[in-house]
Formats: sequence, structure tokens, C-alpha cells
Amino acid sequence: MTDPTRERLHALLREMPKAELHIHIEGSLEPELIFKLAARNGVPLTYPSVEALRSAYAFTDLQSFLDIYYAGASVLLTEADFHDMAWAYFERAAADHVVHAELFFDPQTHTERGVPMSHVILGLRSACDRARRELGISASLILCFLRHLSEEAAFATLEQALPWREHFIGVGLDSSERGHPPEKFARVYARCRELGLHVVAHAGEEGPPAYIWNALDVLKVQRIDHGVRCVEDPALVQRLAAERMPLTVCPLSNVKLCVFKTMADHNLPALLDAGLCATVNSDDPAYFGGYMNDNFIATFDALPELGRAQAYALARNSFEASFAPAADKAAWMQALDAAFARLPAT
Ligand code: ADE
Ligand code: ZN
Repeated sequence: MTDPTRERLHALLREMPKAELHIHIEGSLEPELIFKLAARNGVPLTYPSVEALRSAYAFTDLQSFLDIYYAGASVLLTEADFHDMAWAYFERAAADHVVHAELFFDPQTHTERGVPMSHVILGLRSACDRARRELGISASLILCFLRHLSEEAAFATLEQALPWREHFIGVGLDSSERGHPPEKFARVYARCRELGLHVVAHAGEEGPPAYIWNALDVLKVQRIDHGVRCVEDPALVQRLAAERMPLTVCPLSNVKLCVFKTMADHNLPALLDAGLCATVNSDDPAYFGGYMNDNFIATFDALPELGRAQAYALARNSFEASFAPAADKAAWMQALDAAFARLPAT
């Protein structure tokens, strides 16, 4: 049975322009592309088929996912591989009416295997340039440090990337959160801020609210990636709301990694009700069951508190929270208003 009200809400979610601010580009690598690149590069895989690999995507927590995710990234060797991966993402993002994307990439996952930094950055950059030319998507890159490695390794990675400084706009912090608090990276973040880079960090995905406080106070981040555990600390929620500190929330990821038991348990409505600048994002879409619109539709279907007003707020927040120029943000917000005026009320 089709429900016309729900159909209209789905159409709105699908067609409204939006920005994606939390996508690990290595997490967009679909099993089919993993097999194609493995064959192209002669890299052996432990799984015999695309189906066998996909069926291994049953995770119990963040670490159980990261083990498979780093294995999948081992097929990436050449500049063309990085280009092809990002281009596949951009084609998918365009279908979801993503007009701006800020892509995380994990250089240490590749340089540790002997892949030159130039292959990683220039391959991704050429896909970003092509996305603007051929799809009208504005795109930029954010270099992430792996937090399970040392701060010294992060400094070395930053040094290696600086010859391509103009190709990335900021730095982030990802990988295993528990046991690797933000303050471990205090000095490298200070250096990144001196260099004029934007700074963000994963915090409060599996880690406690203290990690969010320290991402704010020690790393001085401009956005918190995930941040959903902030609700455990009312003073923290109050601060995040007062500062309009963006949270890049990833609903399908949170359910797949067992941060929430089901989508109906997700706290996105509570975050919005608290006045937070929450956004919806896909994190690692090839592994977690969907891209941007899949995330929007899964959350809105499971959470009856979410409707037209929340759809508008989430899309608007995504532009507000982006690192794009003010004129671009204003143009996207105008396009958002036009989409809402065009699409019938639910
Ligand atoms: N790297 C890729 N996805 C991640 C996530 N959800 N959390 C931390 N590190 C990641
Ligand atoms: Zn992430």
C-alpha cells in the first residue's frame, strides 16, 4: 500500500539540495570496484567473490568494521585508482542531489603500504575537478590522521602532504576512538591551525562526552564528527547549541556499528530538538547500506518525529556547517528554499 504523504516526504528528501560533510572516500569503495581494482593491480583478495565480501559486512562495533575497511583499501595503488573511486562516489552523490561534498581521506592507510602521497592527493583532486566540471558538484578534501597511530606519525604525514597544501582544506581525526583521546593530537592540531587549515575530529561516536569536550577545548575543532554521545552530558549539549557547533551525524553507520540498536532508537530528533546544528551524512556508504538519500529515508521512516521542518533544518544545517565560501552557501540555501516552495507540503 502506498501512502501519499510518505511518498511526498520521500520526494522532498530525495530532491532537496544538500551537502555531505562526513564521507570517508575509502568507505565508498563498493565490492565490485574492489574486485575490479584488485584484478587491475594484481592484488590478492581473501574473499573469493563480490557476494562473499559483501556478506562479511556484519559488524559488532567500530573496530570490527575498520579491520575490513582497511583490507578493502589495499587495492588502491595508482593515481587512477583514487580518481576512479572518488568519481564513482560523485556520480552516486549527484543522483542524491548532493551539491557540495567535503571528502575525508586517510593517507596513512596508503603511504604505509608504499603508495606515494602524490598518487592519493592528485587522484582525488582530479576527480573533484571533474565533479565540478561534469556534475556541477563543488568538492574539497580533508586529510584525516589515524588516531590509533602516534602523533609523531601524524606530523610526518602532514609534512609529506604539505607540497600539495592547496589541494586540501582541512584535517580530521578518525579510526579507533576508544583509548585514543583527542588530546593525543594537541600539538599536530596546533600546527595545522597555524597553517590555516580547517580542523574537525571524530568524537563521541563510541568515545565518551569527555572526548567531545577535549576536541573542542584542546583541538579547537570547527565541527564534531558524529558527536551523538553528547546527550549524556546536558552541559555539553548546552555548549554545542550555544556555539552552533555542527555535528556530522551518520545514522546508518550508527546502527551498523551498534551505537544504536535500531534506527528507531537513534537520537537525531533529540539533537534537533536541543537546537543543535546536526547534519545527516553517509560515513562509509559502501559498508553501511546506503548513500545520502538512503540515510535520510531510513531515519525519517523510522522516526515519526521527523518531517518537513526537520528535513529543511538538516539540509540548511549542512550548508551552514560547510567550509564553502559564504556566497556559495547563500546560493545553495536559496536553491533549498526554491525546492521547498516547489515540492508540495506533506
Ligand atoms: N574511518 C572510517 N569510518 C570511520 C568511522 N565511522 N569512525 C572512525 N573512523 C572511521
Ligand atoms: Zn566517520
